[in-house]
Amino acid sequence: MKTAIIYISIHHGNTKKVVDEMAEVLDADLFDLTKQKVNIAEYDVIGLASGCFYRNMHERIIKFAAETDFLKKQRVFLVCTCGIAYRDYTKSTKRILNKKGVEVIGSFQCRGFDTFGPFEKIGGVAKGHPNEKDLSEARAWIELKIQAHKKSV
Ligand SMILES: Cc1cc2nc3c(=O)[nH]c(=O)nc-3n(C[C@H](O)[C@H](O)[C@H](O)COP(=O)(O)O)c2cc1C
Repeated sequence: MKTAIIYISIHHGNTKKVVDEMAEVLDADLFDLTKQKVNIAEYDVIGLASGCFYRNMHERIIKFAAETDFLKKQRVFLVCTCGIAYRDYTKSTKRILNKKGVEVIGSFQCRGFDTFGPFEKIGGVAKGHPNEKDLSEARAWIELKIQAHKKSV
């Protein structure tokens, strides 16, 4: 099961820490969308990952989700890190993909160190996140998701 994880991690590298763990579990290829163009044709599973920016995934990830022609066999999972995790910030990306008929096998979200706006004055929120617990949860989550997906094909 060939897997790519396409990410943007520009605030504090929080999302990169999570996708590094997942890529190790999956033996996935990682693509930084700020630096690389990505051809997803050869992949079965595609992860899209970013921090949360104004209650959504990064706009470039959303654009990628909206504009990419996914193949019928391809499945997508979403990963988001955020300062304050009071809701699922991957929802609108998931909706865009679902509308195109792309199956999203799940979303993983955890907190990530955040110094945006007023939070900078107080030294940031979600200090130390993603921490070891977040990262081990990320590993366990993706292992389960991939196992379930492998069983279904
Ligand atoms: C411009 C900007 C907007 C943000 N908006 C939100 C938000 O709406 N909700 C939230 O929980 N975190 C928000 N954050 C915090 C980031 O989502 C969080 O720090 C994330 O882990 C950053 O990931 P990265 O280091 O991989 O880029 C924002 C950060 C920035 C810089």
